[in-house]
Amino acid sequence: MSTIENRKSNFYGHFINGQWISDHNTIPVYNKYTREEISQVGNASRKVVSDAITNAFETFQTKKLDMNQRYEILMRAAEIAKERKEELASLLVQEVGKVLKDARGEIDRGIQTLIASAEEAKRIAGTGVPLGQPGNENKMAFTIRVPVGVIGAITPFNFPFNLTLHKVAPALAAGNTVVLKPAEATPLIACKIADILAKAGLPAGFLNVVNGAGREAGQFLLEDERVAMYTFTGSPGVGRQIKSSTGIRKVTLELGNNSPNIIHKDVPDLDKAVELCVTRGYSNAGQACISVQRIYVHRDIYQSFVEKAEKVAASLKVGDPTDSATDIGPMISEKEAKRAEEWIHEAVRQGAKVVYGGKRHDAIIEPTILVDVTAEMKVVCQEVFAPVINIIPFDDIKRAFEQANDSTFGLQVGLFTSDLHLAMRAAQDLHFGGVIINDVSTYRADVMPYGGVKDSGVGKEGPHYAIQEMTDEKLVVINL
Ligand code: SIN
Repeated sequence: MSTIENRKSNFYGHFINGQWISDHNTIPVYNKYTREEISQVGNASRKVVSDAITNAFETFQTKKLDMNQRYEILMRAAEIAKERKEELASLLVQEVGKVLKDARGEIDRGIQTLIASAEEAKRIAGTGVPLGQPGNENKMAFTIRVPVGVIGAITPFNFPFNLTLHKVAPALAAGNTVVLKPAEATPLIACKIADILAKAGLPAGFLNVVNGAGREAGQFLLEDERVAMYTFTGSPGVGRQIKSSTGIRKVTLELGNNSPNIIHKDVPDLDKAVELCVTRGYSNAGQACISVQRIYVHRDIYQSFVEKAEKVAASLKVGDPTDSATDIGPMISEKEAKRAEEWIHEAVRQGAKVVYGGKRHDAIIEPTILVDVTAEMKVVCQEVFAPVINIIPFDDIKRAFEQANDSTFGLQVGLFTSDLHLAMRAAQDLHFGGVIINDVSTYRADVMPYGGVKDSGVGKEGPHYAIQEMTDEKLVVINL
């Protein structure tokens, strides 16, 4: 194993104890549009993962940063990210295939996640505990929140800057140390995050990064009992594997959704609702857990909704993600695009009609609108994770609620209505982690609590809420 002193600009091994190291076992990283190899990263062995955990564990035992230091480091990291915004966005365009305007948006969001985490570092507090029970008159009790220790963060390809920061920044803000395993398809931006945090003054050992192919490095991370908690975004299958491998250790799991959006006949602004549903079904090529997928539209406005949706879809520019005018770029791989294409074909064989799009060009799936779909079709009942939306009529709002709830998932749901009572009923009756009124399921402000029910996962993200997950509440009782 050697330390790489003069690393070629984009080669990253593993970041352990503040240094980039490599055992020369590497995996390629591709530009998702041109399919050229743009870099290589390390492929961690069990020993590399174990060394990273040892370093994070020893750092947690021996070094502490006070809350003001944690605040300063995260704020400085936000400043550096701001200065390097164009470089970072351009890297997202290459390694994710994200269109330039969305890539810039993701960097802006990541900066906000850093700032919010910095601010939360100063607000971590327990509660007073009134001991109103006879015999406790001379006792005083309160809780404090303490960091859990080493956090294993396993991050996805779809928002590899912001979703990595949603794990790393609150973990550091709370005083933990981290071993990060980025998605194999998009590791470079996570390596840049490590560089930025180091430049911002994060001492060696607080953040370690292990790169790797497939599930191996992640599995090594899961098997090590020195890791106190795992935070993961990805598929329900891997989420289940993490839960079953980690016993009684803590986990936060952000898994999928086949996001429903209900457009009632009293929608305040139909054109706006159509535009939101269509564009947010296709942003990031549909590869977001809260991407609009199922759109239930009241029959009185159904035809008009479909016609308007077709016009919006036709107005979108598809293709080269480096072009700042492009709206929809490639999916993460041709394999994934072929999978989505097959789901569309299967739906058509089962009776669905393609109103717009439906074709694949290499890794690009055209923005697709399906109608005449049924609840059993994969494009409806599973997470499509591609630029595909289904428009489904309903006659009775009660039935629309039932259809929205008829899912193994429960992350976020959107409802468009002018009726406050209906909005309140939705908040009660729709079984999701978030109910969004008069905006789409895709709405997310980075400070809000974000997390689902059912197969969508456990625990919440959003810096304040993530810090609750990443700290233990410790009771202190004083006998006066
Ligand atoms: C996700 O795919 O879960 C994240 C979506 C977002 O942060 O906008």
